[in-house]
Amino acid sequence: MKTLKILFEKNRAWAESIKAEHPSFFTELAQIQRPDYLWIGCSDSRVSANQIVNLKPGEVFVHRNIANVVVHTDLNCLSVIQFAVEVLKVKHIIVCGHYGCGGIRAAMENQKHGLIDNWLRHIKDVYRFHQDAIDVLQSEEDRLNLLTEKNVIEQVANVCHTTVVQEAWRAGRALSVHGWIYDIGDGILNDLGICVTGLDQLSSTHFLNIA
Ligand code: CO
Repeated sequence: MKTLKILFEKNRAWAESIKAEHPSFFTELAQIQRPDYLWIGCSDSRVSANQIVNLKPGEVFVHRNIANVVVHTDLNCLSVIQFAVEVLKVKHIIVCGHYGCGGIRAAMENQKHGLIDNWLRHIKDVYRFHQDAIDVLQSEEDRLNLLTEKNVIEQVANVCHTTVVQEAWRAGRALSVHGWIYDIGDGILNDLGICVTGLDQLSSTHFLNIA
């Protein structure tokens, strides 16, 4: 099949339904994007950022990768954070993991999956940091869930450790970094309660003395 006709039909129907409700929606949207939120989530097809929080196009800037990882040297993710913070001036960065994450499961196993195994090493690192707390849990589901939560917490720290976020705080910008978990089983989002809002909450090892 050379043309995915069904998707173009769905697109036309979607655009028509939005225009019926709000005739100037797309012309207004084309003028400027001014989202308050940057969402860093998993690539999983079931965890679409806009849908989960019921936001319209233009309201959330999105970066997704397998298992919502923020790698210190990932230019893709870092560029998204920089653009979101410095140009779009988002007020919130949300790292959102999800229960039932295949990336987390794969990282806990020792099976070979190919190139992706190198990416999953970052999650294995998180597992290693918290292995004592995770391995004492009796059920596999509990172990996976705890690693999923620890991974979000770790990635929130990684966002906060970026030069971009530290410079924004140094400049007095109001910027909050949140860690959330989404449950595919019931569609409910939960806050892990680890919101970071300033330089004073950073560990001394990663605090940058930026003049
Ligand atoms: Co996932």
